[in-house]
Amino acid sequence: MGEFVIAGGRPLTGSLQVQGAKNSVLPILAATILHSGTSVLHNCPHLRDVDASIRILRHLGCRAEWERDSLVVDTAGMQCCEIPDHLMREMRSSVIFLGAILARCGRADLSMPGGCELGPRPIDLHLSALRQLGARIEEGGGRLRCEAGELRGREITLSIPSVGATENAILAACGSEGTTVLMNAAREPEILDLQRFLAGMGCAVQGAGTSTVTIQGRSPTHDSEHTIMPDRIVAATYLAAVAAAGGEVELRQVDYRHLATVTGALHEAGCQVHSTGDAVLLRSSGNLHSIRPVRTAPYPGFPTDAQAVLMAALLRSRGATVFVENIFENRYRHVDELIRMGADIRVEGRVAVVCGVDRLQGAQVRATDLRGGAALVVAALSAQGESRVSCIHHIQRGYEDIARDLRMLGAEIREQ
Ligand code: UD1
Repeated sequence: MGEFVIAGGRPLTGSLQVQGAKNSVLPILAATILHSGTSVLHNCPHLRDVDASIRILRHLGCRAEWERDSLVVDTAGMQCCEIPDHLMREMRSSVIFLGAILARCGRADLSMPGGCELGPRPIDLHLSALRQLGARIEEGGGRLRCEAGELRGREITLSIPSVGATENAILAACGSEGTTVLMNAAREPEILDLQRFLAGMGCAVQGAGTSTVTIQGRSPTHDSEHTIMPDRIVAATYLAAVAAAGGEVELRQVDYRHLATVTGALHEAGCQVHSTGDAVLLRSSGNLHSIRPVRTAPYPGFPTDAQAVLMAALLRSRGATVFVENIFENRYRHVDELIRMGADIRVEGRVAVVCGVDRLQGAQVRATDLRGGAALVVAALSAQGESRVSCIHHIQRGYEDIARDLRMLGAEIREQ
């Protein structure tokens, strides 16, 4: 298993183009099977989770081939509506295939999705939405057996705005007779990207990005092309890295509106931030100060996925910053590793208090999950001496090549 070797203490400078969004491409890959034909996805990031989705598509009988950064998916040959356990276990978001397979085939047979390092992540809201559309779902022996016969559109209210449940409900509703109105839907930008992809293939979906999404089911579909939106969490990671290490970096191909809470926090901490068109420029002296409490919340609140990297950026700040994690229970697993580098962090339940220290010291640390792993890289860039970050397969689930990107900004980081 590989590790990153990072020599910290160097400022970061330069300009970088941000990869396509993981959380956008995964539901869109599932959505390709709503149409029997070809979808071309541009700006598709080369990620472990994308490879896992491709394996699922191929198992279902679809073709999926890379053409540089584009992925060409042809679902005309799909002849299977079952996903075996070993493919479901590779990533949690494989559950998004459930709504899409039901819409296409009227039945689906999947095992429960992969375990997750962020604490319990139930799928009750996904199943409830699909049942309300008319699916009969049997759970047992770790498998989900779903029969739909005919799915029928209706009004559905999610009890919390779950991103995955919103996506699953939208995909199943595309294959349902009549109109579905989904209320208390998640408003994440990736759901708007899914709507854009679906609209491009002919599906009638409106309202994504707001709390009410309306789907007119069974619209005729056709071949389509789509460009995956930029990854706002990867952008947040690189901004946090520059904030921590100091320097001046321009990120190209990002939508600054999606980053408003993250850039707002970094500005409050003492960074200069400018947004121009589809670029964000951040300048940092590397000497930051503490900020008001950071509370994670569904979009447009502060993203849970950026909590760890912002925490890493503030480890050497003057004063104390409080973090409140409201989305996932087990999202402070990076804290013990950061403490190995000399950080002063106390955790009590959902609250973490970061007291800034004068210096961090390079250390041997272990990535425990995707964003927590990225936070270790951010901290290592501002630490003195060498750090080694192991278990980087977690990081590679969501970053195409974090070492290449950071080297382009002048960081000393290599994979071995
Ligand atoms: C998605 C993102 C993930 C991000 C998260 C929150 C993808 C592939 N992943 O995950 O990166 O951190 O949104 O922004 O897009 N819940 C239930 N029952 C359910 C579903 C969810 O109780 O059926 C709870 C979860 O345990 C969690 C909360 O709802 O506490 C939010 O989860 P959700 O929005 O569904 O996150 P994911 O879609 O899994």
